Amino acid sequence: MSEAVAHERVVEQLPKAETHIHLEGSIRPETVFDLAAKNDVELPEDSVEELVAAYDFESLNDFIDKFAFIPQILQSAEDFERVTAELGADSARQNVPYREVAYGYAGYDGLGVDWETVDAGIAAGRERAREEHGVELRFIPSIDRTADPERGVSIVEHVADIEADLGIVAVGLASKEQGYPAHDHARAFELADELGFNTVAHAGEDVGPGSVWNALLALDVDRIDHGVRAIEDDILVEYLAQRDVPLTTCPVSNVELNVYDDLSDHPVVDLHEQGVFVTVNSDDPPMFHADLNENYVRVAETFDLSLEDLVALAKHSFEATFLDEEDKATYVDRVEEAAEDLRADVAGD
Ligand code: ADE
Ligand code: ZN
Repeated sequence: MSEAVAHERVVEQLPKAETHIHLEGSIRPETVFDLAAKNDVELPEDSVEELVAAYDFESLNDFIDKFAFIPQILQSAEDFERVTAELGADSARQNVPYREVAYGYAGYDGLGVDWETVDAGIAAGRERAREEHGVELRFIPSIDRTADPERGVSIVEHVADIEADLGIVAVGLASKEQGYPAHDHARAFELADELGFNTVAHAGEDVGPGSVWNALLALDVDRIDHGVRAIEDDILVEYLAQRDVPLTTCPVSNVELNVYDDLSDHPVVDLHEQGVFVTVNSDDPPMFHADLNENYVRVAETFDLSLEDLVALAKHSFEATFLDEEDKATYVDRVEEAAEDLRADVAGD
């Protein structure tokens, strides 16, 4: 790419959607610290810097175990409102006008925080994201793979009542993958389907292609979160490409959790070249020390992406959303307008 149009600038100037980010994993470290103090949760770290340094994980399971403290710091609707509104502000800063955000209920079980508190806070924060920052946040309640399948069914029944307030766009599946097959939650996903929800599932992150097949065949999901280990199965790659199933990949997350040793080993570009619909996402940005823009820039630098590659990725990010076709087209036009300006800059060099 031209020296004058650095990857950072291109990525900043292109509007992008994100379809794989977790509310609980997106909280600013300063806010984690503040909320812990407010809610009398003792953190082992004495400063924000120490907290950020402690965001260091060996694997997905290690991450999920360490991450378990987060629900403890979210105790009131105001707490949920704050983290949701701050996510709106952070989205605006990165030129991300639209995000589909996963959140869980399972973590609050036993902590005395009822689901209605979670919902009220997210609904209020979502309004503020729209009014104060011009950002549209939609939500994906995620069933915890490790929880009793009955809880998953209850979550689907619950969200059918609050769909409009939270802008629910899908039902999802997350958490530890090894030993917790997707098919355990087939009933919840069947119900989600009957109720007209889209569905997504984390798969092919910590377990190989069999886990992706399981999510596709047992849950019939519309999108796979991560899915990168599909690359280990040629037939699966062909299946995903033929059916245009989006994989919401999170390149930096996969390096941070040691799915890949180095970003240059990551299959996002290889999958794309084999015709699979891939997008770039951040997963849990502060925890993996990389926001969405940083994920794009690092992928661009590692794989020497061109301006047109980045424009295509940004367009793809909106096409992979659960927006209706008209809204998708409006956002894609906005990407094209930004691309025209960037091309003019390159031509003017
Ligand atoms: N929850 C938050 N981040 C996750 C990830 N990368 N995989 C599974 N569950 C998660
Ligand atoms: Zn995730």
